[in-house]
Amino acid sequence: MSPHYEHPNAPVSEDPRAFWEARYGGDQVWSGKVNAATAALTADLPPGRALDLGCGEGGDVIHLAEAGWDATGVDLAEAAVTRARRAAHKRGVAERTHFMAADLTDTGSGWGLPDDAGAPGFDLVTASFLQSPVALDRERILRHALTLLAPGGRLVLVSHAAPPPWAPAEFAARGHFPSPADELTVLGVTVCGDERWDVATAEVRTREVTGPDGQAAALEDTVVVVRRR
Ligand SMILES: C[S@@+](CC[C@H](N)C(=O)[O-])C[C@H]1O[C@@H](n2cnc3c(N)ncnc32)[C@H](O)[C@@H]1O
Repeated sequence: MSPHYEHPNAPVSEDPRAFWEARYGGDQVWSGKVNAATAALTADLPPGRALDLGCGEGGDVIHLAEAGWDATGVDLAEAAVTRARRAAHKRGVAERTHFMAADLTDTGSGWGLPDDAGAPGFDLVTASFLQSPVALDRERILRHALTLLAPGGRLVLVSHAAPPPWAPAEFAARGHFPSPADELTVLGVTVCGDERWDVATAEVRTREVTGPDGQAAALEDTVVVVRRR
């Protein structure tokens, strides 16, 4: 995700699909690069089948495909997945990437994934900044995502722990910025894990970025990795 996160001036009650389609209706929104924490947390994993939730313009999916994964991205906005497909084609990984427009809160729909997606499951599910200033039932989505993991598979969750310093006050006030403990509660996993889950990582990481006006800034990411036993 680009650090140049602009706050779209939309009312909270706005329909999520309309909101995100409008957000992707203009220029490219994100940097096109993989998110730093997602890259670091997946770097040592052997490539397999990956699913990225709320993939936006596809930066993480394309990175995973370049690293040898068969990678699928799902996003609410058709405009975003159209852009992601185009970017994957340009980067030469169209054959190892698949993009679907679907509402992830509609967990009964199969998210447009191929029928065999649930068997034997994904080796990796990523959700990078699956956060929204309009309605988004993350708990429903993320708990369903856990059910899609193959044995040994990992859910890698990266979220804004705090708003960027340059974010408008209204955005900061209405956004939800989860701590690692909040994320584990959302997932229904305890920090010690249990017979089904290992918690490999649950922490806040700081990264240095350049803000929209060229200012140096530190952003905080909540990073959680849960591994299915
Ligand atoms: C903050 S952006 C992050 C995009 C991307 N993961 C990245 O890091 O660049 C959140 C993304 O979640 C998507 N999204 C929001 N609600 C969604 C839903 N109900 N189903 C699927 N995607 C959704 C948005 O369209 C948007 O692309």
